[in-house]
Amino acid sequence: MEDRIVTANLMMEDQAAEFSLRPRYLAEYIGQAQVKDNLKIYIEAAKMRNEALDHVLLYGPPGLGKTTLSNIIANELGVSIRTTSGPAIERPGDLAAILTNLQENDVLFIDEIHRLHRTVEEVLYPAMEDFALDFIIGKGPSARSVRLDLPKFTLIGATTRAGLLSAPLRDRFGVVSRLEFYTEDELSFIVSRTADLLDVGIIGEASREIARRSRGTPRIANRLLKRVRDYAQVRGDGMITEQLAQEALERIQVDPMGLDAIDHKMLQAMIMRYKGGPVGVDTIAASIGEESQTIEDVYEPYLLQIGFLQRTPRGRVVTTAAYRHLGLPIPEPS
Ligand SMILES: Nc1ncnc2c1ncn2[C@@H]1O[C@H](COP(=O)(O)OP(=O)(O)OP(=O)(O)O)[C@@H](O)[C@H]1O
Ligand SMILES: [Mg+2]
Repeated sequence: MEDRIVTANLMMEDQAAEFSLRPRYLAEYIGQAQVKDNLKIYIEAAKMRNEALDHVLLYGPPGLGKTTLSNIIANELGVSIRTTSGPAIERPGDLAAILTNLQENDVLFIDEIHRLHRTVEEVLYPAMEDFALDFIIGKGPSARSVRLDLPKFTLIGATTRAGLLSAPLRDRFGVVSRLEFYTEDELSFIVSRTADLLDVGIIGEASREIARRSRGTPRIANRLLKRVRDYAQVRGDGMITEQLAQEALERIQVDPMGLDAIDHKMLQAMIMRYKGGPVGVDTIAASIGEESQTIEDVYEPYLLQIGFLQRTPRGRVVTTAAYRHLGLPIPEPS
């Protein structure tokens, strides 16, 4: 696990709190308006017909609320949810056991569904399409195929890498929803809500200050809030003010745009050594002592998203917005 305070991935310190901070119903789930509106209708319709909801695929970057939303869907449907993950289902038999134990209309949640084993995936196709399992009994000429009916269920698949899903699997989802990064307003609301749940006072623009530095991601917002809370307890009277939030976040080196020391190091290296690019990922990686893959998967996406980096055929380029943010003179076009 990464130990950057601004990683969107689940950290050890988030684990205990995340469960209790999760919204349980759609009404408490902030943002993602379009996804929510669609789901609301499908859920309502499924309930009216007393049928299982269509299979749902949720995709998007880590920490945006895929697991949360899956649990909400089950709650709103009033059914049980069975949770597992792609890599955890090792053999077709494991999946068969899970499927045969579901109740009618239940939700089966498969996290990291892009990591399902091929052989397991093949069992999933008829299960999703016909609610059936196909078995071969016996061997040689006397072998025959037997079909076992399953209860109707809803599969919810979550993935950060929708591009890695095989086409036949993706095609079997009736509802495909992409979660987006959250706006500052939405994150600000999430911070206030979490503060309420944690029973910490937060006033003025403090929640916005935290929201701004959360990289569009609720998981990061909640994590930063907890750090600020600790600081406010020790340095103040426990009440989180804008001033205390700023101080606390500066101390842990999360800047006003949510960039941390590593982001700065990478941008600085590109500017100082390569005049802001274009420079290849491998070169950037070597100059800051990281793997190229890590740069592409972990450091770069947010910088691209906020327009501080640009991807060109000749490599990465630092944009004028980034120079401005870093307070560096913008180079003359050569
Ligand atoms: N829309 C939301 N409103 C309020 N809080 C949210 C929302 N979405 C996510 N959160 C908070 O962010 C935390 C992380 O969300 P969640 O675990 O659902 O993300 P995820 O997309 O499943 O991440 P991963 O890709 O790492 O599995 C949750 O514990 C919850 O507290
Ligand atoms: Mg998740």
